[in-house]
Amino acid sequence: MNTTTLVIGATGNVGKELVKILANHGHPVRATVRSTTRTDELKSMAVETVVADIGDPSALKAAMNGIEKIFFVTPAAPQMMELSSNIIQAAKDTGVKHLVKLSGADADLEAVTLTKWHRAVEKEIERSGIAYTFLRPNSFMQNIVNFNSQTIKDHGTFYAPMGDQGIALVDARDIAKVAFHALTTVGHENKAYYLSGPSAISYSEIADILSSVIGKPVKYVDVPDDMARQAMLDAGTPGVIVDAIMELNHLNKLGKAASVSRTVEEITGQKATSFERFVRDYKSAFIG
Ligand SMILES: NC(=O)c1ccc[n+]([C@@H]2O[C@H](COP(=O)([O-])OP(=O)(O)OC[C@H]3O[C@@H](n4cnc5c(N)ncnc54)[C@H](OP(=O)(O)O)[C@@H]3O)[C@@H](O)[C@H]2O)c1
Repeated sequence: MNTTTLVIGATGNVGKELVKILANHGHPVRATVRSTTRTDELKSMAVETVVADIGDPSALKAAMNGIEKIFFVTPAAPQMMELSSNIIQAAKDTGVKHLVKLSGADADLEAVTLTKWHRAVEKEIERSGIAYTFLRPNSFMQNIVNFNSQTIKDHGTFYAPMGDQGIALVDARDIAKVAFHALTTVGHENKAYYLSGPSAISYSEIADILSSVIGKPVKYVDVPDDMARQAMLDAGTPGVIVDAIMELNHLNKLGKAASVSRTVEEITGQKATSFERFVRDYKSAFIG
């Protein structure tokens, strides 16, 4: 009999796709939400929802009642370690057997702030004695929708401080598919998977693909770092997060995010989604 899987971060880029896959395969799913205003889509898929903030250890323990496997996401913020500790401790206390953590590419290198945060959480999981799978994806294709689609819609241009090296962007739906396999098949215990798309593409190539798929010219503008930094600060992003994002952008500019792995295909049996396919699927997000 399938036991219920708990998804923490079920309204996010990866979590919402994972919930869909589990539900479509008839696997019982429990999803944590912070607010009941965000439960309609989950309920329409017959997913059980529980209100639990990751900052609330007792709510987390209650959400883990009867749970053996958990997929979790914690925010890319300095609180990541503390919030993840709450999850790990509650999992220990309630006898959870397997944790699938959404981490980040090159977490093991601990070269920049974000990967240091992710690796600190991974190490705590390793020490917990609970079986784990670490998913270490490259940057998500969905970032282009979340951060760039508005200006593409408005005036066919998008702005980023990314230089023009190739980046092996990965589709969050593919990460969710890998998570599904890690949770529902054996052999993924105590493994870490670097996940990328099928090829490394530059931001100019991204603009070309967008232009051809949506049928109107799209231009990429490589903005200077100080301008990008100020724009994020003006938008209310805390300085510590701005610094962490700029560190990652710097690695992208140096071509350090270009490695292509075949892990998505090896684990799911399906080829990783190309950026062209991604834009076809999300076309409406780019059309005004
Ligand atoms: N974006 C990238 O390119 C990229 C690449 C590699 C790794 N990552 C890693 O991926 C993670 C983000 O994943 P994502 O993009 O799928 O998530 P996301 O879209 O940012 O969503 C975050 C999820 O976590 C939930 N959440 C946040 N704080 C919470 C709290 N205190 N209590 C309960 N739930 C909380 C949110 O719920 P609400 O609906 O209530 O807000 C939402 O479901 C980060 O750790 C990041 O470092 C991202």
